[in-house]
Amino acid sequence: MANERLPRKTAIMERRDFLRLCAAAAAASPALPAGAGAAPRYYARVKLVDSGGRALRANGLPPHRNLIFHYPYATTPCFLLNLGKPVKPTARLKTAQKQDYEWRGGVGGERSIVAYSAICAHQLAYPTRDISFISYRAEPGAQNRHARVIHCCAEHSQYDPAEGGRVVAGPAPQPLAAILLEHVPATDELFALGTLGGELFNQFFAKYEFKLALEHGSRARQAANGTAAVSELEDYCRQQVKC
Ligand code: FES
Repeated sequence: MANERLPRKTAIMERRDFLRLCAAAAAASPALPAGAGAAPRYYARVKLVDSGGRALRANGLPPHRNLIFHYPYATTPCFLLNLGKPVKPTARLKTAQKQDYEWRGGVGGERSIVAYSAICAHQLAYPTRDISFISYRAEPGAQNRHARVIHCCAEHSQYDPAEGGRVVAGPAPQPLAAILLEHVPATDELFALGTLGGELFNQFFAKYEFKLALEHGSRARQAANGTAAVSELEDYCRQQVKC
């Protein structure tokens, strides 16, 4: 191989670049016409682990539970959901800026595992340690006739996690941004790779700058790196608003 003659560090970097390009190409296909779509955005490849730092196994994820982790920044929350059945890559979606994109469905042995940014696409409500207005609901409720949706009780935006986070009710102008996941069949491990759809991280950091700085100091905008701990929302958050 050509890179056997290169210094070891250079060869490793080339291999990483090659793998990243392969992953990007695979995740982006089938291709959208150039310039027409919202392209995936790749961040650090981060392994999902439990609170003890052990790798999470896809087949161990309980169905229909709100699991939360932070990605691609240390303070940006995401939902990890096992929807309990295969989730097909069928959704054709559009950002608020009218960019089309195709979401590629669930991952894992059953293709039932999905992940989304937990920052509401309406006015950026998100789960904090103290309170969460937004969560996945397996059953309909007083204010939602839909079951199996991510429901934000702030103004009742509802998103379908089985269809790429598509808006099914409420004022949100675009789907939740999807988190790109990689499942490694040999180990059954899960990794977060990037996002797809309308990211709102800049708006999130601008809106909550003061709060995040108070709570996290210089870590407020630190990129997730290495591993991300996954926990149950009810363990992470003291109060869940149900509606
Ligand atoms: S912030 Fe979620 S519906 Fe308004």
